[in-house]
Amino acid sequence: MTLIRTPSDIDPSEITPESVYRERRRFMQAGLALSGAALLGEAPFAQATVTPFTGLTRSAFSVDESQTEYKDVTGYNNFYEFGTGKEDPAANAHTLRTSPWSVTVEGECAKPGTYTLEDILKPHALEERIYRLRCVEGWSMVIPWIGFPLADLIKRFEPTGNAKYVEFETLRDPERMPGQRRSVLHWPYVEGLRMDEAMHPLTLMAVGLYGAALPKQNGAPIRLVVPWKYGFKSIKSIVKIRFVEQQPLSSWTRAAPDEYGFYSNVNPEVDHPRWSQRSERRIGEFLKRKTLMFNGYAEQVASLYAGMDLRKNF
Ligand code: MTE
Repeated sequence: MTLIRTPSDIDPSEITPESVYRERRRFMQAGLALSGAALLGEAPFAQATVTPFTGLTRSAFSVDESQTEYKDVTGYNNFYEFGTGKEDPAANAHTLRTSPWSVTVEGECAKPGTYTLEDILKPHALEERIYRLRCVEGWSMVIPWIGFPLADLIKRFEPTGNAKYVEFETLRDPERMPGQRRSVLHWPYVEGLRMDEAMHPLTLMAVGLYGAALPKQNGAPIRLVVPWKYGFKSIKSIVKIRFVEQQPLSSWTRAAPDEYGFYSNVNPEVDHPRWSQRSERRIGEFLKRKTLMFNGYAEQVASLYAGMDLRKNF
């Protein structure tokens, strides 16, 4: 795999290196409310043009590892709605209008409805969580996300006892997402979690990274981050949340059921049918490193799968 360079249409001045970002954070005042403009910002490269989030606390769930450079986090992406190449999302996602944005909540819950992004976010205090993200393709990153626990959002909709799973959908709009004019996947992109996975405190609704709103190529304005699962479970640009009784059929399972299962937990013991999952290359590093069970989050999540055959439930 070659390291992807910053796409040519990003002015280097638009990118905030980690050192600058860290410096700036030292001057941020704690206790200020987040800026609405930050969330609704329309710039594709939000870091430079959008008000940074302020007053963030760093979650204890964060890993203490060096963070992947901003240019790689925002320049080397999978977001098939904008093309299948790693540089395509950064080049093409400017067509995604993220304001206004709403999320429709359906299915087995007491409070279904269509909620504006502001409604969704208002009650939640944001925090910074530095998580590993391990892609099924064999590369990984460490990203300082900004968000809040999905569990806190789910509780507001009061799921019924029949809600065994949560299904998520990305926007389907071939105008704003030109990659959807090709049927490389079934659109809209769908993902799902078992209810206990969705309610786990590690599962994050992310609205930002590196101190500011999510760049479009990273799934603006709101996406999931499930750090113990392969990256494709972390669905971007969510417009629908549905509480269901049956296990959802996610886009990747639908496309290749023998290769991508519902659980997709990071597991070095279970190979992808076409390649090993034993090691990974951290973007920005030369040597490969061993992939850890549940991506290093076994202590927190292994109990969710006690008694399950993880070869069958891959
Ligand atoms: N969500 C949507 N809607 N479309 C996608 O193609 N790609 C997934 C996931 N979420 C994808 C998606 C994959 S394969 C990965 S590895 C991660 O997003 C990448 O997230 P990142 O670009 O922020 O690193």
